[in-house]
Amino acid sequence: MARLDGRVALITGAGTGIGRATARAMAAEGAKVVVAEINAEAGEQTAQIVAQAGGDCTAVATDVTEEDSVRAAIDAAVRHYGGLHILHNNAGGSTPVDSTVVEVPIEEFWRAIPSICLARFSAAASAYRQLSRRAADR
Ligand SMILES: NC(=O)c1ccc[n+]([C@@H]2O[C@H](COP(=O)([O-])OP(=O)(O)OC[C@H]3O[C@@H](n4cnc5c(N)ncnc54)[C@H](O)[C@@H]3O)[C@@H](O)[C@H]2O)c1
Repeated sequence: MARLDGRVALITGAGTGIGRATARAMAAEGAKVVVAEINAEAGEQTAQIVAQAGGDCTAVATDVTEEDSVRAAIDAAVRHYGGLHILHNNAGGSTPVDSTVVEVPIEEFWRAIPSICLARFSAAASAYRQLSRRAADR
């Protein structure tokens, strides 16, 4: 039995990079994987790559900076696979204006707050509500 058999994992920003690699690794361990990615085409590509390797994966176009969009992705995971057990808050990544702390424009800092910190907080809160609801139902 694989380590994640029977588990459903939602991975944000899994259209490329670390998120895609995590989707492949979790699916190889038996998880059903939901790719919540802003770039719909990249998300679908990840789902295809996982499926070609024998995994079970679905992509949902998601913008993690929009709370409703994250909630919709979590609802889609529950509808499609019957639950949610793992959230990998991965979306983010570098931007062309990434640089050192003394050189980075202050606007980049303020861009990063909603896209990274707040988005991760709200995704964790939405996923936790779903996880606790299911625990209470048992
Ligand atoms: N690669 C590194 O060395 C490194 C180091 C430290 C931290 N990280 C963090 O790990 C995570 C993944 O890194 P990576 O190198 O694979 O990045 P990446 O840029 O290759 O991938 C990030 C993915 O997130 C998606 N994304 C961006 N904004 C989104 C949004 N609003 N909603 C949904 N999806 C969105 C992108 O489309 C992309 O597919 C990032 O959060 C990054 O900050 C990476």
